[in-house]
Amino acid sequence: MTTGEPLIVLDGVNKWFGPLHVLDDVSLSVGKGEVVVVIGPSGSGKSTLCRAINRLEPINSGTITFDGRPLPAEGRELAKLRSEVGMVFQSFNLFAHKTILENVTLGPVKVRKEKPAAARERGLALLDRVGIANQADKYPAQLSGGQQQRAAIARALAMQPKAMLFDEPTSALDPEMVGEVLDVMTSLASEGMTMVVVTHEMGFARHAANRVIFMADGKLVEDASPTEFFANPRSERARDFLSKILTH
Ligand SMILES: Nc1ncnc2c1ncn2[C@@H]1O[C@H](COP(=O)(O)OP(=O)(O)OP(=O)(O)O)[C@@H](O)[C@H]1O
Ligand SMILES: [Mg+2]
Repeated sequence: MTTGEPLIVLDGVNKWFGPLHVLDDVSLSVGKGEVVVVIGPSGSGKSTLCRAINRLEPINSGTITFDGRPLPAEGRELAKLRSEVGMVFQSFNLFAHKTILENVTLGPVKVRKEKPAAARERGLALLDRVGIANQADKYPAQLSGGQQQRAAIARALAMQPKAMLFDEPTSALDPEMVGEVLDVMTSLASEGMTMVVVTHEMGFARHAANRVIFMADGKLVEDASPTEFFANPRSERARDFLSKILTH
């Protein structure tokens, strides 16, 4: 599915939080249509990497380009970047006092200036696509975690993003709801969405990813195909990490 044409490119990216070197000379290119799974121990910089890509986190040195252009620092261009790079977090972050459909149509109407009726129609189609069309008029608290996370995915998709970032989207879910969210992500991947996914779901990494990135101490330690990575991790850190998570 990937065309090879780069969409997200990080080149020599460094980020410090005070004395802590959280992203250490990270270079990475994600092609259009590519699905990259990011794994690594807690504190290795995975969330910071995701947040840097849509500039929720500024970097100290190096460059990040999205679709051929350096990330804008502010203003309308930054708002445009944020709509082009959808982000889904561990906590669902839905607006509690808006219905599920309103959550999905708000961005398109306010930011993309879509007509409410058109946004509503597309919103309903997106909710249908993630399997929760029948929840459209409920409020977030009335939905299960898995349904809320699927609503969060629909909300990001409503902005017609060029890429989607997922930061541990299933970690806060009860086990029986993990599958329904991974199914939506798998179908997005197979439809050609460019995705960067931080996850401990190794089944998803094996079956849906084009590449697996292993991070440790802010460094990108391995970058390999899932088959290569799981069969033959090159670094001691990755072998150690895999032995820990795969025995759970
Ligand atoms: N706003 C912040 N201020 C200071 N330090 C921070 C901040 N955000 C993250 N850090 C630190 O930066 C390091 C990398 O954090 P990050 O959240 O990117 O790791 P992670 O790989 O996503 O970890 P986890 O698997 O626990 O989510 C950690 O040591 C963390 O404590
Ligand atoms: Mg994290």
